[in-house]
Amino acid sequence: MHYLGLSHHLLALNFIIGSFGKKSAWSSAQVNVTDTDFDGVEVRVFEGPAKPEEPLNAALFIFTGEAGPWQAQNYGMEMARCQVEQRAECKPGGGGIRYYDELCTAMAEELNAVIVSIEYRLVPKVYFPEQIHDVVRATKYFMQPEVLQKYSVDPGRIGVSGDSAGGNLAAALGQQFSQDPNLKNKLKVQALIYPVLQALDFNTPSYQQNVNTPILPRYVMVKYWVDYFKGNYDFVQAMIVNNHTSLDVEEAAALRARLNWMSLLPESITKNYKPVVQATGNTRIVQEIPQLLDARAAPLIADQEVLQHLPKTYILTCEHDVLRDDGIMYAKRLESAGVEVTLDHFEDGFHGCMIFTSWPTNFSVGVRTRNSYIKWLDQNL
Ligand SMILES: *[C@@H]1O[C@H](CO)[C@@H](O)[C@H](O)[C@H]1NC(C)=O
Ligand SMILES: *[C@@H]1O[C@H](CO)[C@@H](O)[C@H](O)[C@H]1NC(C)=O
Ligand SMILES: *[C@@H]1O[C@H](CO)[C@@H](O)[C@H](O)[C@H]1NC(C)=O
Repeated sequence: MHYLGLSHHLLALNFIIGSFGKKSAWSSAQVNVTDTDFDGVEVRVFEGPAKPEEPLNAALFIFTGEAGPWQAQNYGMEMARCQVEQRAECKPGGGGIRYYDELCTAMAEELNAVIVSIEYRLVPKVYFPEQIHDVVRATKYFMQPEVLQKYSVDPGRIGVSGDSAGGNLAAALGQQFSQDPNLKNKLKVQALIYPVLQALDFNTPSYQQNVNTPILPRYVMVKYWVDYFKGNYDFVQAMIVNNHTSLDVEEAAALRARLNWMSLLPESITKNYKPVVQATGNTRIVQEIPQLLDARAAPLIADQEVLQHLPKTYILTCEHDVLRDDGIMYAKRLESAGVEVTLDHFEDGFHGCMIFTSWPTNFSVGVRTRNSYIKWLDQNL
């Protein structure tokens, strides 16, 4: 699958384990798992051990798909899985939830919580901003008093969380809620795991440092962005050198300042890396793909007024990840807006490491990131 370009080999490996592996490895007598839909959006609900006398916590978990809401790879994965399982009706575009069953089960059990895993629709079924609409719709549905009551959830203890592209959607959802007077203060926390937060600068120190790092090399990340917007792949090379946000692109002028990493990142991170700012680039790119500059796609560039209403925030970053600096810069901007932020950085972490917790891809950093994340939720949700 790796060489056919359908998936990275580690993810393909996990897929094989997931298909043939024993479900009993993660299923738990303590947790009830149900597939249903919330206002038309497919979800998988993990209910932790019920204690009638006290309500549960709740977290809505937004998974990445295998690598993004963007990725057409999921299509191939789902078709292959469907054939392996000899299902009569193949439904490509969904099915990413499986990788997160183990994580969601552990969360439900350890946090004594209801975990809702939202199976938003992926590329190529739908494109931006449909993915955001899906997660917002499912979350609003869940937050209705009668639904919370049905699941015995404490309305004051609800969080939203996601990893990678799911972290992008969780951040976008947080911002949408913070701007809506009816929804403000409804989320107690947001927890973002190596989130994708901006598409304006593909030359942050972490992008430069990890340009060819496995799981998520830079060109793959840039292609995911183009996929998400149904854009033209011909722009990828130009975007890699920041030609889409060059100084002659007027639309980007005001936004560039919001991700000026020379001021947002500490020297220990910027090291000797130099900003890549082109005097002239390609003005056609943002004309054809204006979504690149949309704060719903790039939550890092949102207005300060939007940021200041966000709930307490956890951001996990990994050293070996092009997205490291997206997360660190967002933590910095949120802090400046007065939001309480925990930045949890792993020097030996790599993109996606939290789901690599079972043999043969049982990385110790997978277990450590997972434990650290669950511990934070336990203390703050
Ligand atoms: C799971 O659901 C069943 C059937 O509704 C119920 O009897 C059982 O108590 C539930 N278990 C937990 C851990 O909530
Ligand atoms: C970036 O833009 C400049 C100016 O238009 C152009 O000369 C250069 O070839 C572009 N680079 C890429 C990789 O497209
Ligand atoms: C992964 O699992 C194998 C088999 O259980 C074990 O021998 C190995 O030490 C584990 N590796 C890590 C990093 O936990």
